Amino acid sequence: MPDLEHLNHHFAIPGHIDFVGGPGGLIHARINNTLASAEIALQGAHIFNWHPHGEAPVLWLSEAARFEPGEAIRGGVPICWPWFGLHEQDAALPPHGFARTVMWKVATTEALPDGGTRIVFMLTQEQTPPGFWPHAFTLSYSVTVGSELAMELGTHNTGDTPFAISEGLHTYFTIGDIAEMEIRGLKGCTYVDKADELKRKVEADPLIITAEVDRVYLDTTSACRIEDRKLNRRIRIAKHGSQSTVVWNPWSEKAEIMGDMGVNGYRSMVCVETVNALDNALTVAPGETHMLRAIYSVEP
Ligand code: BG6
Repeated sequence: MPDLEHLNHHFAIPGHIDFVGGPGGLIHARINNTLASAEIALQGAHIFNWHPHGEAPVLWLSEAARFEPGEAIRGGVPICWPWFGLHEQDAALPPHGFARTVMWKVATTEALPDGGTRIVFMLTQEQTPPGFWPHAFTLSYSVTVGSELAMELGTHNTGDTPFAISEGLHTYFTIGDIAEMEIRGLKGCTYVDKADELKRKVEADPLIITAEVDRVYLDTTSACRIEDRKLNRRIRIAKHGSQSTVVWNPWSEKAEIMGDMGVNGYRSMVCVETVNALDNALTVAPGETHMLRAIYSVEP
């Protein structure tokens, strides 16, 4: 477990960022600048709050989220890496990989000229749980907190053989009510319907959610928008280096089985995920770096 005193000594910036102990004893970076506030657990480099000043919080965090060592936090921005969803060969390995549940290191913090704050996290092969993944890599994760939230996940192959990954920023967004929102930007995309025997279908626009939705949209680099009539706002999700978009809402029955979604939690969240998965999984050659980027902004 990293030392709070050490973290604050090296990386705290007055008026921008410090490090505190939180629920379950998990240490998190606490950012508060003139534009927004945010909280990021070192476990999983997991952003679990982003709140632009003057707005309702943008990221959804379950009221029943578990903050426990080695457990994924239900809400915010879990990082799925180096595989997205179930592991293709070994179902005993944890879904969505290990990056979201291991401790990351803080590499740098920075106060930006526009008032924003940047923190960069690193993960290397040393932090890979034994038997999970044999490859040499460095993963860097840059988070910029301001009136926009920007994330860059860089996968660098430090070994001498290529490796394959699938990945995603599995973001939970706060919405006023699932019946009063729609998602735009996926018109005409082919998707794999994980809630209907992996059938391939084509999306109509807009996407309105009235039951469980678990879809991997393929070959799409478009930005999406969550149009929220209840909160009277639009969340824009732009991306780069991502060929897939996943939309997920477990709906009532599955949410109840999951146990950490809270009472009626499924009504106030939707996941719109920036992903490379299934047909869009990729190979990173030795010495190369693949960048996955997502940028969120809110418009009235
Ligand atoms: C989504 C998947 O991305 O994540 C779903 O498409 C999955 O199938 C969901 O249920 C949540 O996964 P987890 O492991 O966080 O419960």
